[in-house]
Amino acid sequence: MTVHFIGAGPGAPDLITVRGLRLVERCPVCLYAGSLVPQAIVAAAPPGAHVVNTAPLHLDEIVAEIAAAHAAGHDVARLHSGDPSIYGAIAEQMRRLDVLSIPYDVVPGVPAFAAAAAALKTELTLPGIAQTVILTRTAVRASAMPPGEELSRLAASHATLAIHLSVNNLAPVVADLLPHYGAGCPVVVAHRVSWPDEAFVTGTLADIRVRVKEAGFTRTALILVGPVLAPDGFADSRLYAADHTHVLRPARRD
Ligand SMILES: C[S@@+](CC[C@H](N)C(=O)[O-])C[C@H]1O[C@@H](n2cnc3c(N)ncnc32)[C@H](O)[C@@H]1O
Repeated sequence: MTVHFIGAGPGAPDLITVRGLRLVERCPVCLYAGSLVPQAIVAAAPPGAHVVNTAPLHLDEIVAEIAAAHAAGHDVARLHSGDPSIYGAIAEQMRRLDVLSIPYDVVPGVPAFAAAAAALKTELTLPGIAQTVILTRTAVRASAMPPGEELSRLAASHATLAIHLSVNNLAPVVADLLPHYGAGCPVVVAHRVSWPDEAFVTGTLADIRVRVKEAGFTRTALILVGPVLAPDGFADSRLYAADHTHVLRPARRD
C-alpha cells in the first residue's frame, strides 16, 4: 500500500501528468483538496472508489482517512493543486506517515506560475533582464512569513516575482515593490489559469490595484511582477548563438 501525493495541475483536467492520472484511475481511495482540484480529475477515480474532499477536514482527520486505507491495504491517490511542493502542505502529512510507517511517494504537477506563463506566452527569464524567478507569498491569516523573506527584501533582487495567495493583499504588495521596481513596472494578475473562467488583468504597479478591483478577483489569482512581462527589447540568449559552442554543438571546421 502506498500513498501517492499527486500534483493535479492548475485546473484544466488535461494538465495533470500521465503518471498522476494513471494513479487516480487505479487507486481505490482518492483524497483531494476540493478548493482547487478539478472534479473532472476526481471523476477519473475507479467505480466504487472511496472519494473524499479534504477541504473541510483538519490534518488529524486526513491522516485518519489515510490510516484507514492503509489498514485495508488500499493505495491512496492524494491530489493537491498545481505542484505539491509549493504551498501544498504535504510535508506535515508525510511527517505523520513516517511516524505511522505508511509508505508514500510524490508525483509532480504543473504549477500555477508555469501555467500562467504559458497562457501569457511569456518567458519569465530573459537575458539581461531577469534570470531569477522568486515564488513567494505574503503574510496573511493562515501563515506568517519567516524573518528575512519579507517582500521588500525579495524585491531588492529585481527578479521576476510570482506572488501566491496575495490577491487580497495588493495594497501592501504594491507598497513594498514600488521603491525597487518603480511605478511603471509591468504586473499581470492571473486569475484561475486554465479553468473555464480564466482571466488576466495587466497593468503596472501604479494602476494594478484599481484594475484588479474592477475585475473583482478575490481568490485563486497569481501576481506576476517584473520587466520580463513587457520587455523593451532583450538580447538573444547565448545558448543558440552561432559563435557559441558546447558539448552538443562543438565548433565546426567549416
Ligand atoms: C495553496 S496555493 C497552491 C499552489 C500550487 N501548489 C501550485 O503549484 O501552483 C494556492 C495559490 O496558488 C495560486 N494558484 C493556484 N492555482 C491557480 C490558478 N489556476 N490560477 C492562478 N493562480 C493559481 C494562487 O495564488 C492561489 O492563491
